[in-house]
Amino acid sequence: MPNRDNSTHSTFAQQQGHFDLPARLELTEPVINAPMAGAAGGSLAAAVSASGGLGMLGIGSSASPDWISEQSGLARAPGRAWGAGLMAWVLEESLEPLRLLLRERPDLVSVSFGDPGPAAELIRDAGALCAMQVGNAADLERALQPDIDVIICRGGEGGGHGRNDVATLPLLQLALAATGKPVVAAGGISGPTGVAAALAAGAQAAWVGTRFAASDESLSHDHVKRAIAEAGLDDTVFTRAFDIAQGIPWPAEFGGRALRNAFSDQWASDEDRLSAAVAGDASITATVDAARRNGDVSTAPVYAGQSAAGSASHESAADIIADLAGFRGHLRAAVDRWN
Ligand SMILES: Cc1cc2nc3c(=O)[nH]c(=O)nc-3n(C[C@H](O)[C@H](O)[C@H](O)COP(=O)(O)O)c2cc1C
Repeated sequence: MPNRDNSTHSTFAQQQGHFDLPARLELTEPVINAPMAGAAGGSLAAAVSASGGLGMLGIGSSASPDWISEQSGLARAPGRAWGAGLMAWVLEESLEPLRLLLRERPDLVSVSFGDPGPAAELIRDAGALCAMQVGNAADLERALQPDIDVIICRGGEGGGHGRNDVATLPLLQLALAATGKPVVAAGGISGPTGVAAALAAGAQAAWVGTRFAASDESLSHDHVKRAIAEAGLDDTVFTRAFDIAQGIPWPAEFGGRALRNAFSDQWASDEDRLSAAVAGDASITATVDAARRNGDVSTAPVYAGQSAAGSASHESAADIIADLAGFRGHLRAAVDRWN
């Protein structure tokens, strides 16, 4: 089990932002499964951690206390480092989900999409590392404050919620130039070449969502997994339409990247009209909710990034980590070529 002693946590090096994240978490692979609400539960997190990466739970806006404690128990079971991600805008209402989680002793907690503020303090007091996903220059500026230990550069090509302002690589280069804190690359990474690129740039690890969302251990509906595996490079759309339809109160500055489908084709470019339609007609919300339950991917949100093109069905998390571990050969080949 990694050392999570507070005195170690607050070494001078860490205060200055210089520390080796994989070493601190005793990772043997520089891979973190993204915390994905609705997809990343304890089974996925445990499988990723047991394979040498960092397994993460995605704690959504409606996660119950029982869900948090049960899934944390699963994530912790391999006896390796694990973590979880929550939404900052949800914690602005109440810090209770975070308090429950911290009782389970995660090693790393990410707080994204809003100001991590008071959450960051609780996380560090509990001896865990506090991470934040950043999606533009203002987010990066916030993450440079001392209460954030790990910066996740998440480009707009990534799946699920976030910003659509800049792509991963420009953000990553800016962050690496600005800080000595551990920086992790997220958005668009699905294979060993992507991991190699992120590490060669200076990221300490890759944060991979979409490919794990289609994995055997993902909590997603089978139809959703299949749709991700079958999607092509330009089959996604960035939109708020699904949140508007479901009445989920995401701050308007954040949308989500999902597979294009009949619902997004109808509404993605007409979000104001959708808001008005939902206000006057409850059947829209009911239809999208039912589609989610039934795995009707023509209407339900299938959150996935451009890296869906590099995803497959019927892969275990261990298979994915074994494939991503091939980054070593790509890094060696690049060095040999240019030496
Ligand atoms: C299905 C799905 C659900 C997601 N849910 C969350 C979430 O609950 N919390 C969070 O911080 N990020 C969430 N994300 C975003 C991921 O943390 C990450 O930024 C993204 O998956 C990285 O890009 P990639 O999908 O190209 O790997 C989600 C992503 C996906 C695909």
